[in-house]
Amino acid sequence: MTKRVGILYFSPTSSTRSICSAISSGMGVEEPQFFNMTIPELRTDLIANAGADLNMMDHLIIGSPVYSGKLPSQVIDCIKAIGGKRTKCSAVVVYGNRDYGIALHNMVDLLSQNGFEVVGAGAFIGQHSYSDLVPVAMGRPDKSDIELAQAFGKKCAGTLNRLDLNKIPVQMDRFAKSEKYSAIKPSYLEKRCLQCGKCTKACPLGLILFETGIVMTQKSEKQCIGCMACVQHCKPKARTLKTNPFVKVIMKGILKEALQNRKEPLMIFG
Ligand SMILES: Cc1cc2nc3c(=O)[nH]c(=O)nc-3n(C[C@H](O)[C@H](O)[C@H](O)COP(=O)(O)O)c2cc1C
Repeated sequence: MTKRVGILYFSPTSSTRSICSAISSGMGVEEPQFFNMTIPELRTDLIANAGADLNMMDHLIIGSPVYSGKLPSQVIDCIKAIGGKRTKCSAVVVYGNRDYGIALHNMVDLLSQNGFEVVGAGAFIGQHSYSDLVPVAMGRPDKSDIELAQAFGKKCAGTLNRLDLNKIPVQMDRFAKSEKYSAIKPSYLEKRCLQCGKCTKACPLGLILFETGIVMTQKSEKQCIGCMACVQHCKPKARTLKTNPFVKVIMKGILKEALQNRKEPLMIFG
C-alpha cells in the first residue's frame, strides 16, 4: 500500500509548497494530501477538526517560510492548536538565502512538544519575498534544490529514529533575537486595480476587501505581514513592492551577502 503522506504548509509565495512537494515525490508519493495553513478559513478548519485527517497520515511534511529568522506566528499558533498523535514528520523551513535564524530549531522544538515525532529537518532556499527590491535567490528553488529536496524525502521516509533537538543549528542574529517581524508592506495603486479579487483570496490574514481591493482598515494595514502574496497574485500590478530610497538602501545592506553568495540546503536526520 502506498504510504499516506500529508503536507501541512504555510506558503504565501509558493516556494515552501514547491519544496514540500519535491520532498513528497522523493518519498515515492506523487499525490500527497495537502493541508493548507496559508489561508485563514483553511487554518480555521484545520484547527476546528483538531487535525483529525492530518493525524491519519503515515508521514507529515510540515513546511514554513522563515520570517526575520523565525517562524511566522500563524504557523506557531496553528501547530499548537492542531497537535499530533505521535505522528511521524519532517520539519521544513524555507528561507530567502539570507539565513534561517532560529526557525528550524523552533519548528523541531514546537513539533516535538506538541505530539509529533520529528525524524528529519531541513532548511531549504526559495526566492526572497523581497526580490523585486533586491534580486536575491532568483528562480529558487531550482533544479538542484528540487533534487536535494527529493533526496531529503527519500532519506526521511526510511528513517525511524527521532531527531535530537541539539543537532539543529541556530543562527542567532539581531533579527532572530528580536520578537518583531521586519516586514515591508506592499503599496496599492487603485487606478490599476481590476477588482478581480485574487489578492483577497491570497492574503493569509484576510485583510483585503473583495469588492474594492483595498485593505479593510488602518488596523488591518498594521496587521499586514508583508508576505507579498497579494503582489505575486496581482497581474495588473496594482499591488507592488515599492519603498522609499532610504528603505531600499537598508534592504540592500541587509541582503548584500545573500545576493552574492549562494547557500545550499541543510538536512539533518534522526
Ligand atoms: C517578513 C519577511 C521576513 C523574511 N525574513 C527572512 C529571513 O530572516 N531570512 C531569509 O533568508 N529570508 C527571509 N524572508 C524570505 C522568505 O523566507 C523566502 O522568500 C521564502 O522562500 C518565502 O516562502 P514562500 O514562497 O513559501 O512564501 C522573509 C520574508 C518575509 C516576507
